[in-house]
Amino acid sequence: MPDTPKRFYVTTPIYYVNGVPHVGTATTTVLADATARYRRLKGDDAYFLTGTDEHAQKVADAATAAGTDPQTFVDGVSQRYVETWKFLNCNYSNFIRTSDERHKKVVREVYNRLQAQGDIYLGTYEGWYSVSDETFFRDSDVDDKGFVKETGAKVERIQEEVHYFKLSAYGEKLKAHIAANPTFLLPETRKNETLAFIDNGLRDIAISRKNAGWGIEVPGDPGKVFYVWFDALINYLTESGWPENPNWDTLWPADAHLMAKEIYVRFHATFWPAMLMGLGLPLPGHIVGHGWWTVGGEKGAKSKGNIPLPQEVTSWLQAAGSPDEATAIDALRYYLLRDIRFTDDSEWSLEILATRTNADLGNDLGNILNRVLAAKYFDGVIPTDAPLDPKLSAVAAEAVSGYEAALARYDWGTALQAAWVLAREVNVYLAEKAPWKAAKEGNTAAVSEAIYNALEGVRLVAYLASPAVPHLAQSVYTQLGLGAPGTWETEGKFGALPGGTRTGTPAPLFPRLDTEKLLAAQAASKEEPVTETTEESTETTDPGFVEKPVATFDDLDKIQLVIADILTAERVEGTDKLMKLGLKVGNTERTIISGIANVYTPEDLVGRQIVLFANLQPKKMRGVMSQGMLLAASDADGNAVLLTPDKPVKSGVEIR
Ligand code: MSP
Repeated sequence: MPDTPKRFYVTTPIYYVNGVPHVGTATTTVLADATARYRRLKGDDAYFLTGTDEHAQKVADAATAAGTDPQTFVDGVSQRYVETWKFLNCNYSNFIRTSDERHKKVVREVYNRLQAQGDIYLGTYEGWYSVSDETFFRDSDVDDKGFVKETGAKVERIQEEVHYFKLSAYGEKLKAHIAANPTFLLPETRKNETLAFIDNGLRDIAISRKNAGWGIEVPGDPGKVFYVWFDALINYLTESGWPENPNWDTLWPADAHLMAKEIYVRFHATFWPAMLMGLGLPLPGHIVGHGWWTVGGEKGAKSKGNIPLPQEVTSWLQAAGSPDEATAIDALRYYLLRDIRFTDDSEWSLEILATRTNADLGNDLGNILNRVLAAKYFDGVIPTDAPLDPKLSAVAAEAVSGYEAALARYDWGTALQAAWVLAREVNVYLAEKAPWKAAKEGNTAAVSEAIYNALEGVRLVAYLASPAVPHLAQSVYTQLGLGAPGTWETEGKFGALPGGTRTGTPAPLFPRLDTEKLLAAQAASKEEPVTETTEESTETTDPGFVEKPVATFDDLDKIQLVIADILTAERVEGTDKLMKLGLKVGNTERTIISGIANVYTPEDLVGRQIVLFANLQPKKMRGVMSQGMLLAASDADGNAVLLTPDKPVKSGVEIR
């Protein structure tokens, strides 16, 4: 068999499908996309994996709250991720889903192997579990009101039989690996947090939960499914085709797993490497944890409604002066990469987004290009034989090495800063050389030299920025009369611009964004909250809802809507949202499960009348057969608002 060279393999977390993609999740995906593009420039066969994590308890709860079964629900939401990453020009190599059969098979294989070698045993877990963090917590992690100290998430007390993985056996081996591989854990702060976590004593970790009807069943123990993190981490390995594909090692080990800090220490830097050590497999090259986008100091999350969707931001950018969607997308990508930090958090800010776009993309790059290309004294052909300016060459060399050093640590913010030192130097150079004066004096050699060096400076900055802002970089290249950015060897250094090329038509790269218009567009979209923004709903003719295809009376006739009395109401244990309702419908009684417990208490509900979708196919949720669905609207925060009759109506009356 021919020896296939190892591919460069970068991953994002696989995202939970209880929420839709927002600018936070987009950040890690854009980081991975830019990294893969950069590695391709450098000649690597780069492979970029993203996907969705579908077996979480909170995903099953979200499906129930949406009144649908988990598989239909996850199929729908995972599609939103696919669409959003395509929208953001993220060229992933594959999109993995943990409900894929091939993944389930690998998860069972991992379990069987660890089990066979004595790394797994059966025990009882008694302690805390947070559904929103999908994490088991120790007493010391939880405050006396029942919230996780670190994340503020609610916990529940559980006691159940579980399979344990002997994580405690791996502390010393992990520390040895970390010591021997100084850049395994990046950045340094995360490494220190991980070492402190290990030193605090690793405890064995439960890898199963009781089977509530959603998840991958534990082989030989159908009453249990795998704990979502055991299942999820394995996705990175599944992609390689291990163990069946004889070429699995062309992809595995991954070169870099990218993520934010909250899933770093416990899961990616401890649990996952220990699982791999147990399997005798090589560990990933780098585990990289960036900070969060915060809003008012709090982590931005869609569930809190404090962070926008990428499609929303780009529509605001267009309202504020971005000429088209592709330009707006690059502005957003630039901001996400330039301003996310690796050691600290960054406060999400449209003002900073506008400033960066105007200063870095519009002024620093766009102006040079425009000033030179549109100049009367420039005949539209790149000068030949112009000497390279020594100072600019030196600044360029430093920019390139700073950029590469930062990207060896996946730190795009620092890399772009390094590249922009060159952009600013080119502006200084142009002001100093003043080719317009030289032209008046008839000094053609000086004009040629200044023009060549300035355009080459812009080209190199655009080349370095091309993985981050592909559309913008191409536009610079086209204006310079060049094709697509080429290989690193030829183009990743100062002096690569070929003389004699006829330049393209000058066009403004980034027309100035109007910050006030940007903020106004955001404010306007908040005033008309359509539950989720779709591309259609951002149009000015938006009717406030998305129309479905025409239906007939026959269609309506299939659906039985009736008035029901709520006789009893109780929260479903272990969930934040689910309420079990005992209903009277005419002379009959039935039970439904509804996702309203975060808004209504049992006392609010008992005695009220509701509208029931009575002939909806019954389904089991949390072990209870739910026979129908109540009708509710959503308020601006996405919370359920019950629909009730205007005055009391006889129970069982049909609605038409
Ligand atoms: N499903 C797990 C990951 C399993 S990986 C084997 C999960 N999913 S998640 O949907 O919650 O995504 C978390 C990740 O999304 C973060 O680690 C980060 O990559 C990204 N972000 C989510 N919110 C973010 C911010 N507010 N800021 C920066 N990144 C953000 O955890």
